[in-house]
This record gives sequence, C-alpha cells and structure tokens, in this order.
Amino acid sequence: MKTPERYLITAALPYANGPLHIGHIAGCYLPADTYVRYLRLHGKDVKFICGSDEHGVPITIKAKKENITPQQVVNTYHEIMKNAFTDFGISFDIYSRTSNKIHHQTAADFFKTLYDKRVFSEEFTEQYFDEKANQFLADRYITGTCPKCGNPSAYGDQCEKCGVSLNPTDLINPTSVLSGEKPILKKTKNWFLPLNQLQAQIEKYIDSHKADWKSNVYGQCKSWLNQGLQPRAMTRDLDWGVKVPLQDAEGKVLYVWFDAPIGYISATKELLPDTWEQYWKNENTHLIHFIGKDNIVFHCIIFPAMLMAHGQYVLPENVPANEFLNLEGDKISTSRNWAVWLHEYLNEFPNKQDELRYVLTSIAPETSDSEFTWKDYQNRVNNEMVAVLGNFINRIAVLMQKYFDGTIPGNGEIPIHNNSVETVIKNTYDALAKNIENYKFRQGLFEVMELARFGNKFLTDAEPWKTIHTDTEKATQVLTDCLHIIAHLGVCLQPFLPFTSKKIFQQLNLKEEYFWKDPISIYAGNRMNKPDLLFQKIEDEAIQFQINKLQHPISEASANIQAQKESISYDDFTKMDIRVGEILTAEKVEKADKLLKLTIDTGIDKRTVVSGIAEYYSPEKIIGKKVSILVNLAPRKIKGIESCGMILMAENSEGKLAFVQPEKNDFENGSIIR
Ligand code: MF3
Ligand code: ZN
Repeated sequence: MKTPERYLITAALPYANGPLHIGHIAGCYLPADTYVRYLRLHGKDVKFICGSDEHGVPITIKAKKENITPQQVVNTYHEIMKNAFTDFGISFDIYSRTSNKIHHQTAADFFKTLYDKRVFSEEFTEQYFDEKANQFLADRYITGTCPKCGNPSAYGDQCEKCGVSLNPTDLINPTSVLSGEKPILKKTKNWFLPLNQLQAQIEKYIDSHKADWKSNVYGQCKSWLNQGLQPRAMTRDLDWGVKVPLQDAEGKVLYVWFDAPIGYISATKELLPDTWEQYWKNENTHLIHFIGKDNIVFHCIIFPAMLMAHGQYVLPENVPANEFLNLEGDKISTSRNWAVWLHEYLNEFPNKQDELRYVLTSIAPETSDSEFTWKDYQNRVNNEMVAVLGNFINRIAVLMQKYFDGTIPGNGEIPIHNNSVETVIKNTYDALAKNIENYKFRQGLFEVMELARFGNKFLTDAEPWKTIHTDTEKATQVLTDCLHIIAHLGVCLQPFLPFTSKKIFQQLNLKEEYFWKDPISIYAGNRMNKPDLLFQKIEDEAIQFQINKLQHPISEASANIQAQKESISYDDFTKMDIRVGEILTAEKVEKADKLLKLTIDTGIDKRTVVSGIAEYYSPEKIIGKKVSILVNLAPRKIKGIESCGMILMAENSEGKLAFVQPEKNDFENGSIIR
C-alpha cells in the first residue's frame, strides 16, 4: 500500500566539545532549518532531527586536559549548543544526544545485525600501545616527527604544519601523549566494513544521483570512488563510546563515524517511539542530510554502505553539503579563537537573530567557500534589511496610521487592484519554490527581497501621499495593494526570517502563520497595530567592537577556562563547612617543592594543613593572612604529614594561585562561608 509522503531532514550532529560558531550555522543548520520551514509551510509531514555527537577521541583529549570526565565535557557543551540552537530559531523536532541509552542500544543493535549477517571482516593490526597507561593509543594520542617536513610535534593522523595525513607508524620517534613514553606496537583485533566489496553497489547509488546532487558533492564522491574504496575499521580500542556488543571485545568501542549517523535513527526513535520505522524503512520517505563538506564521504559513502549492508533502511535521497565559511580573510578556527560564537552573538546583539540569519543566508557557501566580514554584515543589515524591507513596511504602516488611523478603509474583503502587483507576488512564489527545492537558499532569499524592492518602487512611483485628497480611491488602492505585498512578504520570509515574519503579521493584526499560497484576506475594518521598526541600523561602534574583539580576543584565556562541572544540589553544597581562618605558622615541606605546612586558626581549633602553594608564596610572607578553609574535609596524609582541611585558592588560566579571602578584614576566625 502506498503510504503518504514523508520527509526526514537531518542536520549533522555537532561534536559536543566546543560551542557553535557562524561557520556551523551557515554551512549546515541554517539551510536545513530554512528547508524544513519551507516544507512545513507546504503542510508536508516533516521531521527535523539533530543532536550532539558525544563520542570520539577529541572529547576524551579535552577531558584529560581539563581534568574532568568526557561525560562532563559533553554535558556542558550539549546544553550550550542546545540553547543556542533554540535561541537562534533552529526548529528541530528533536535535539538528542549520542550518550543517551537509546542511542547506545540502537547503535549496538545495528552493529550486531551487520555482525550476524557476516558483513564485517575481522582483522588483526598492530597498533601503538602505551604500556605505562596500559591502553591502546588513538592516532591523536601519539605525537612524533613528521616524515615529510620534520615538524617535531605532528599527530598520529596528521601533521598540522605541512598538512600531510599520516598513519601513527609513519611518525619518527613516536611518543605517547598520555605518559610521554615511547609506545610499543601491539596486535589487536578490529571489525572492518569491507567498502571495497560494496564499491559497485555504492557506485551505482552515487551515479543515480548525478543529476540531482550538488556538483561539489557528486564530484567529491566520484573522486573517492575513483581511488577505490578500502576496508575501514568500525571499532576502536578506546574506552569512550558505544561498547562493541560482542564477547571478545573488552575495551573496544564503535568507531565514532559508525555510531554518530545512527544517532539520526536513535533520535527519530526517541521522538516517535511507535512510528519511527515509517520514516526510516519506507520507500516513501525523503531522507535528506544537511552537512558541511568535511562530512561528505561519511554521509554519501560510509553511512549508505552501512544502510545497504543492513538492508532494511532507506538511503539518503540528497546530501546538500555546503562548502566552508571564512571569517575576515582567514579560516575559522576554534583553537585560535578566530570565530564568531553563536551564543556570544546572541548576547551582544539581543533579538537580532534574523539579522544574522539574513546575512548568513545571503553569503551562504553553497557552491564555493565564502566569507563573513563584520563590515559586510553591517552593510547588508543597514542597506537591505533596514533600507529595503524594514523601510517599505514602515512607510506603509506610517501612511496607514496617518490617513486611516491604522484601520483598513472600505467594505468587506479588499482584493488586489493592480495587475502587476498580483503578477509579481505570484512570480515570487514560483521563483522561491524553484530555488529552495534546488537548495539555492541565497537566491531564494534574494527573490523575496526583490518583492520588497518592487513594493518600495511601486509605492514611490504611485505617490499616494500626493493623491490621497484628490483621488482618494486610487491612493487607498495603492496602500492596500502594498498591504497585500507585505502579507506575502510575511509568508515568503517564514522559512528564512521566522522572527520577522511573525512581527509582520502582528503588525498587520493577522494570524501569525500561513501555509503556502494561503489566500490572505485583508478586510476593511481590520485595525493594524502601531508601527514599530522591524530592524535597527547597526552602528559603526558595534562593528568596531566586534572587529577589535576578533583581533584581540578578550578571552585568549577563556579558551582555557574549564568547562562548568556537572550541576549539584543545594544539599550537596551545604555539606561543605567552609570557614574564615588565619595562617599562624608556615614552613616548607622537605623534599616537596610545591608544599607548605601551615598552622591555621579556624576559630574552632588550631590545626595543621598542607597546601600546594609554595611556588607562589614564601612562608614568611603569609603569616597572619586571612584564608578560606574547608574544615570538614576528611584528614589526609600528605608527605607523611596529616593535613586537616583545605585552603581554598583561586587558580587562573595560567595556573597562578591566589588566596580567597573575606573582603573585610575584621571577620573573626570561624566565620562561616556559604
Ligand atoms: N560530529 C560530526 C562533525 O561535527 C558530524 C557527525 S554527523 C553524523 O563533523 F552523521 F555522524 F551524525
Ligand atoms: Zn609535516
């Protein structure tokens, strides 16, 4: 039986190891959201799926560096990203995460199905192993000298100096990042997806999309295929990820690129526990993956290969990948802090989501890399959003207030009077459809702006302010025709600028959402709301501030600021008994460069505390200092000395220490800190 048509739209699951920047948004999430909103506008059955990608080696490295667990890393960034998406109007039906139980189960089951179908080949390979840390080393955990350029700190997978991609065994003098020791080669078993055997099947699939996939996507696939596909390991010797669901797989997890795309499936399951299969296992589904270009091979070759091998799933129908967005003449880089962070933008430009959406769509890297500059942002906002769109709508609102006190004159339903207005509106819908359906969002938005440009010109040419008293009927018709244009702008902008679209309908006092080509009825007697500027000019100062901030990142340090720890209850907090104390004596601890042995007057007693502050304070200088001390910490032996409590210290991003003291010096010892 033919089932109704369904759309399953996914956006790449972002790694939960850093916040989102404009490159992510322009490359993937904004086009996806625009497309989804367009489908919803047509009343289609569409589900928009995303979530955090919480596995992979970089997350474990970040955790090690910050001395927290990988789970703490992903908890922090999952929240930040989820909130940023919501605030920015990215309208996922679900934003899930791959550390969820349902995902582990789904990914493990998927693997097991392929295993039972004997899809995988088992292969023994020699991998570097750190005997001291007692674990296999992922590529990124090994550094050494680049065989090509001699860079002494190349990684096991790539030299960041000359860009060559490497295998860990290519490195000269390999060293373990974990222990600093030379790793040994040790045999290990892993499960490989024999992409070589699937080559013909994949080639057929890719070729069938020669005409409908973007040429950058199709071209990249062909170049992979021409090189000949190689078997690829789908498991890794690592302890962070989805456990390999087999008996003899202790200490192994699924390859992150195996589990992450299955995240699309698990999130759909979570969203639709009863009906998810109708989306994933039914021919009448349009499965479309929005991604950036670095993800093409995974979505066009490896994931389809997994789905083919499984046998029950539909294959991606399109993968409209974008190229990269650069920033002020340079590649966006998280580690160099060369980025515009989404959550910072939303703080610094409150309620200007649509301004950024507009600019990022206008410069979207659809066919080649493109560039964001703050000047261009300002120009587009001021010269297009303010001067064209906002201005047109405001002119009409003001004239309607002036002549009619905001109330639409006439009787009953007011039609469009001018034929060219009617035609231009219709053409806008057609051009918009044609472009969006071909993933040409830039041009789609441009077409809508053309309607606003037309409106401005139509109004200027007709000059109703001159004729309102001589030919009132004609002037009124011009104004109500413009109201029709504005209403249709509201509809056509729904996919691109959802916040603005809502405001437009509010101003017209119409319902807030429409379907495609819904008849929009403008009735006499309807009272418009008071005009309110849709957009404000962006001043030079705001732009200069952003440019300065990029060049002198306020937060070179904040890139090093540790992520927030897991949240605790108030009760957890009150378990800690922290008091004001005073240092009575201080002396160095023998054979320990960092430690001082202190006697503290806690107000309760006088006790010994060993503290790791010797590098920053000499004993004689701190006697008499007020400190904060955690008094109910269980006593611990440090270098043979029993330490009863802990002095609280502030530590900055460079590792410098400072005492935490009450701001007033006359607080007696034993005062409670809470
Ligand atoms: N986390 C990957 C990235 O940011 C994308 C994963 S997409 C998925 O590049 F399909 F694997 F989920
Ligand atoms: Zn190199």
